[in-house]
Amino acid sequence: MKNILVTGGCGFIGSNFIRFILQKNAGIRIINLDALTYAGNRENLSDIQGEKRYTFFQGDINNTALVRKLLKEFGVDTIVHFAAETHVDRSILGPESFIQTNILGTYHLLEEARRWWIEEGFDRNIKTCFHHISTDEVFGSLGPDDKAFSENTPYAPSSPYSASKAASDHLVRAYFQTYGLPVTITNCSNNYGPFQFPEKLIPLTILNALKGKALPVYGDGKQVRDWLYVEDHCRAIELVLQEGTAGETYIVGGNNQPPNINIVQSICRILDCLRPDSSFTPRTSLIQYVEDRPGHDRRYAMDITKIQRELGWQPAISLDAGLLQTVKWYLEHLDWVDNIATRPDYQGWLAKNYNQRGKNR
Ligand code: NAD
Ligand code: TYD
Repeated sequence: MKNILVTGGCGFIGSNFIRFILQKNAGIRIINLDALTYAGNRENLSDIQGEKRYTFFQGDINNTALVRKLLKEFGVDTIVHFAAETHVDRSILGPESFIQTNILGTYHLLEEARRWWIEEGFDRNIKTCFHHISTDEVFGSLGPDDKAFSENTPYAPSSPYSASKAASDHLVRAYFQTYGLPVTITNCSNNYGPFQFPEKLIPLTILNALKGKALPVYGDGKQVRDWLYVEDHCRAIELVLQEGTAGETYIVGGNNQPPNINIVQSICRILDCLRPDSSFTPRTSLIQYVEDRPGHDRRYAMDITKIQRELGWQPAISLDAGLLQTVKWYLEHLDWVDNIATRPDYQGWLAKNYNQRGKNR
């Protein structure tokens, strides 16, 4: 039995990963450590609460005593580290929690991993024991003619979020170089799919478009992101855990780079098709250009050659198919959505981020 400590497993990607990995691997036990911040939701895993190979602990990754206890009690052989503050806009309005969790939290987790694997000599022969989930945003913004991000692109983060993730990546790498802790890192692009918290572009657009609310598009809407369906990402992480090389980084992307406005328009068209009986159609009429995000990165693009060549991974789900699946999922899970959308802290966030934003056109 492999014993994997997942941090942040009640968030969007972590919960998808836990479900994915338990379904595919009978010999895996998951210990999920999550602080249940505003973004953490136990409902994301309500379908596996009775699963014997799954145990949940509410707690902070900065709680070293708890992490130490879990590593020992469960004989953990792998840590998959998702826990983070993840929303760029929140990092602009309040960076401190990003420093606490993304930098200090990662440091504390690394220290406990080092103590467990190296000082207590748990298992020196494993290929990867600490897998760190990071982001393409650490590389900063590409100009129109720049080459896509690769594993060799220098770091140039723009936001407090991406700066904190960059710092955590450097720490993870330093623990490999200095202490020989077997680590791997994936830097992936924008994920989308089921269970994404509705503050990010895709779920926010789906929800607002359903309710006939304005669809806020920052700046001119021509910023370019690479979009990765979350299940493709989970498969990439699984492969890196199985076959990745300690000390290595892998770029993971969806092989598509549409401007934001195209994403918003596509969601409108899908909803017009699936829910045509509405006074809001065509939903593109709800699009509202609003004041841009400060320091907004213009373009991201991913060169996935390394993971393709070395591990045989490539995305399987096209953007069109993934968007359709995602919109359908949200339509089929309106209770999940309402439980979040009616929370005062969520409404408070929307007011804070959008009410003061001037209209752009
Ligand atoms: P999320 O915001 O949906 O979930 C984060 C989870 O971490 C929540 O369950 C939260 O409760 C938990 N958490 C936060 N602080 C914690 C702490 N101090 N201790 C324990 N748990 C804590 O995030 P996500 O979108 O699932 O992202 C997961 C990881 O993937 C993050 O590291 C993020 O930087 C990275 N990433 C995300 C994307 C994306 O598009 N979502 C893209 C690239 C990289
Ligand atoms: P987001 O989903 O917040 O992810 P990230 O900032 O990590 O890329 O945003 C994706 C893109 O969409 C980004 O360029 C900002 C833009 N955006 C909007 O135009 N309007 C919005 O309301 C939000 C939340 C994002």
